[in-house]
Amino acid sequence: MSGMHHMLVHFPLGFWALATLMIATAALFPGRLAEIARAGLLPVLILGLLGAVAAIVSGFLVWPWQANLHSPLTRNHILMAFWALGLWGVITLLIWRGGAEAFSGARRWALLFLALLGGLLFAITGTLGGHLAGAPTAFSALIRLLGWEIYTTFYAPLWALGLMLLLAVALVGLARRRA
Ligand code: HEM
Repeated sequence: MSGMHHMLVHFPLGFWALATLMIATAALFPGRLAEIARAGLLPVLILGLLGAVAAIVSGFLVWPWQANLHSPLTRNHILMAFWALGLWGVITLLIWRGGAEAFSGARRWALLFLALLGGLLFAITGTLGGHLAGAPTAFSALIRLLGWEIYTTFYAPLWALGLMLLLAVALVGLARRRA
């Protein structure tokens, strides 16, 4: 059964990698190439989200909860999967609601920043998955060099979560006032 998860994870990873490339193309290049990247982006993002939901559901169905939650490495893998899902969900919403306007003016830089952050999150999710399956890469070593010990649970302090929430509420308020 674990082959199910191994197979399904290729969908979010592939679609999100493609979406990162398309957002970079749409933000950085002028003309026809950027137009094509913008036009095809929403379906790729939706397929990425569907793939991620399938990968997450398969992760919970294939291995027992107790086993998943007992290992700090698996906890980090699950945590990063949910952060990646959340961020790509926001990017999908922005492209869906914003349409062609999503890339206008300075908005393109915000989208590019979010896409690069999303790229980092799914890369960490994937590399921790590979580590769990017995195939660690140099990327795991890089995460450790940056100060994240992958064998202990990553956590954000409560004050940092509170600050993020406040920032999110302030940004939504600002956006509503400008709309
Ligand atoms: C967006 C969601 C996810 C992605 C992209 C992802 C990605 C991966 C990848 C790339 C691997 C390595 C597969 C291989 O080497 O062939 C893996 C393994 C694994 N994943 Fe995930 N994963 C996700 C969600 C989850 C969730 C939610 C769970 C648990 C509830 C989970 C549990 C595991 C476990 C236990 C392994 C090790 C498998 C083994 O030892 O054979 N994953 N994952």
